[in-house]
Amino acid sequence: MQTPTGRRAFLGGLALLPALSARAWSDTPGPGQSYLRPLPPVTNASLVLDILQFEALAREALPPAHFGYIATGVDDDRTVLRNHEAFSHYEIRSHRFVDVSHIDTTRPVLDLKWPTPVYLSAVSGQRAYHPEGELATARAAASRSMTMMLATVSSTAIEPVMEARGGPVWQQLYATDDWSVTQAVVRRAERAGCSAIVLTVDGRNARRNNETLARAMLMDSRQCTECHINNSHDSLRKSPMYQGLDMSRVKGGVPEDLSPPYLDRLRSLVKGKLLVKGVMTGEDAEVAVAHGFDGLIVSNHGGRNEETLRATIDALPEVAAAVNGRVPVLLDGGVRRGTDVFKALALGATAVGIGRPQVWGLAAFGQGGVEAVIDILNRELVHIMRQAGTPSLAAIGRNSVVRGSGG
Ligand code: FNR
Repeated sequence: MQTPTGRRAFLGGLALLPALSARAWSDTPGPGQSYLRPLPPVTNASLVLDILQFEALAREALPPAHFGYIATGVDDDRTVLRNHEAFSHYEIRSHRFVDVSHIDTTRPVLDLKWPTPVYLSAVSGQRAYHPEGELATARAAASRSMTMMLATVSSTAIEPVMEARGGPVWQQLYATDDWSVTQAVVRRAERAGCSAIVLTVDGRNARRNNETLARAMLMDSRQCTECHINNSHDSLRKSPMYQGLDMSRVKGGVPEDLSPPYLDRLRSLVKGKLLVKGVMTGEDAEVAVAHGFDGLIVSNHGGRNEETLRATIDALPEVAAAVNGRVPVLLDGGVRRGTDVFKALALGATAVGIGRPQVWGLAAFGQGGVEAVIDILNRELVHIMRQAGTPSLAAIGRNSVVRGSGG
């Protein structure tokens, strides 16, 4: 655990570092809120008002390096910021002459009826944020009947996570460039009963330029060796999902050759549903559908892999147009408000994933924090659906938003 001295030093140092004090992960008040700051101490997840407040609580709860790992993007973190800010370029067109006495947030996704169009996206190594890690997240997903996507480089393997979830999870796949490893992970996840395999296709660089993380690590006075075996941050080799496999030929999590023959090979390996995570263009969407993927996720890995500056919400319309309803199109990146969910649905998403918010909640309050994050997002979604005159998700469509004068 981090000492109070270490934490104080980190928070004090934050102000000195432009990248670390970036607005997206600070608790900078919005217009009109400054007179309410600082907020009173929050001792219970149910007292948290909005999702970004969980970010501030996680920053307090976590050692610098672990918080830095959640926060980091690459280079100047501008894609991280853009993912969130780009939602404000879309404005909601509210319709008044509608019966909104009953709001229905249910949505069919891959043959299942979801209670809301929100799911928990893959976030690796969750025991770095809370001792119960993925098990706490899975229990939260169970209590809210949510779909959870488990990272391949999780700190807990799929079998106990599914037990905690009380049902199937989606297994995110870092396929690696060694086919025998790919096969082993897919077969293990399918044996465990996962309901979908999700191939991540962004992140081709084994080493990415996570400068914010690098700075945060410099500020962390703890000895990494206390927890990281052999001081190793090599999540590929120490992940429980790769245990017992020969990883000697593995260069990185994402295969360098993702050309169509590879996609076909993977399609024949996976018996059940196969999704692809990391599609950002209409051209790639065409390829993915043509090669048998059952669903696409518009994602740039939360801005953690490449500084493209293209927000996922801006990429969504062209991907949705290319897919044209043939398979579900999901989106993650920067979703922090119910209105963000609403806008993504309006622009063609079937459902929306959250990454950082779930682990902010986890770090702050364990299972209860993840549940509170989910509840806040769903509550806000219901509010905007009622206000906008869209009593069901099907009623949210292209005429529900307009690209505003702000961008
Ligand atoms: C991730 N993400 C991720 N994605 C993936 O396919 N495999 C993984 O192992 C991880 N690990 C991971 C760790 C951490 C700390 C974060 C923050 C994110 C990316 C994640 O699934 C999702 O795409 C983004 O987090 C979505 O953006 P937001 O919601 O964080 O803005």
